[in-house]
Amino acid sequence: MYAMTVVTPGGPEQLRWTEVPEPVPGPGEVLVEVAATAVNRADLLQREGQYPPPAGASPYLGLECSGVRVDTGEQVCALLSGGGYAQRVAVPVGQLLPVPAGVGLVAAAALPEVACTVWSNVVGAARLAQGETLLVHGGGSGIGTFAIQLGKAWGARVVTTARAEKHERLRALGADLTIDYRSEDFADVVAGIGGADVVLDIMGASYLGRNIAALAPGGRIVTIGLQGGAKAELDFRALMAKRGSVIATTLRARPTDNKASIVAAVREQVWPLIAAGQIRPVIERVMPMVEAADAHRLVASTDHVGKVVLTL
Ligand SMILES: NC(=O)c1ccc[n+]([C@@H]2O[C@H](COP(=O)([O-])OP(=O)(O)OC[C@H]3O[C@@H](n4cnc5c(N)ncnc54)[C@H](OP(=O)(O)O)[C@@H]3O)[C@@H](O)[C@H]2O)c1
Repeated sequence: MYAMTVVTPGGPEQLRWTEVPEPVPGPGEVLVEVAATAVNRADLLQREGQYPPPAGASPYLGLECSGVRVDTGEQVCALLSGGGYAQRVAVPVGQLLPVPAGVGLVAAAALPEVACTVWSNVVGAARLAQGETLLVHGGGSGIGTFAIQLGKAWGARVVTTARAEKHERLRALGADLTIDYRSEDFADVVAGIGGADVVLDIMGASYLGRNIAALAPGGRIVTIGLQGGAKAELDFRALMAKRGSVIATTLRARPTDNKASIVAAVREQVWPLIAAGQIRPVIERVMPMVEAADAHRLVASTDHVGKVVLTL
């Protein structure tokens, strides 16, 4: 079979569609014939050699896919530890999801990674409750566009940061308030409306102090991205004054049974919201796999809103 390989860690030009050995499903795994995958920011880091796949995972890029389960012929989508940029991938059964009602097979590839990440952090780790305020950083990202919709479906008030040119699209997704992080101090704006009960943070170090300043009493910051660096000084006094907490997680490195329980919760709690039309996949572009390098360039530019999907 063929898979997208990285010739030498580096830029998008290092991606090469190459003949590779067939994946062999291990115990509890099935083979999926891939129809589509989607680009995640992590793929860019893996391509550059900065984010090696966890032990035992496929060496190829791709954290999600949609396609056909080879043993049953069912249309599925799947959360992967790697290997979505390939014709076939071996997937633990617990990481398969049905294609949600009302969503096409190709569009379904844009859902598993964002649904599982947003659900496990916003509802799982940070326990967002109805009537609370959710601050989503980077509302135009794949993660952000999903988090805005899930926050609204969950009955929260949703505030988001993004470049001004994305604001209209984010309000159309349900954001109640959009903040241009380039010209406004988000912490002042959010503190001015009573603070955020939950902050979904993709910046890390550069936003830590202002995220604490933006918290409502008892607020929870959950950091899932380090686009603003990994190391910062934590002002415990400021955090204590808010009775706040800082949580940080990754999805990819979790054990298989942990991922399976997240996937099961997503299937039970989130898939009905998609079937009901309350949440939809947000896709900037669908491109053929041969244009994966351009897809990576587009995601690196952050000119996209939502996901970039690659088809086979
Ligand atoms: N821990 C986990 O398990 C996990 C899982 C999935 C994703 N993630 C992380 O989640 C983040 C989003 O992933 P993705 O694939 O959805 O990314 P993406 O689509 O590539 O989007 C990146 C976003 O970052 C925004 N951004 C850049 N600087 C910003 C700033 N100073 N303030 C606010 N937003 C800013 C950009 O928005 P503008 O164009 O508006 O600047 C862009 O929308 C990444 O950091 C990724 O590593 C973590």
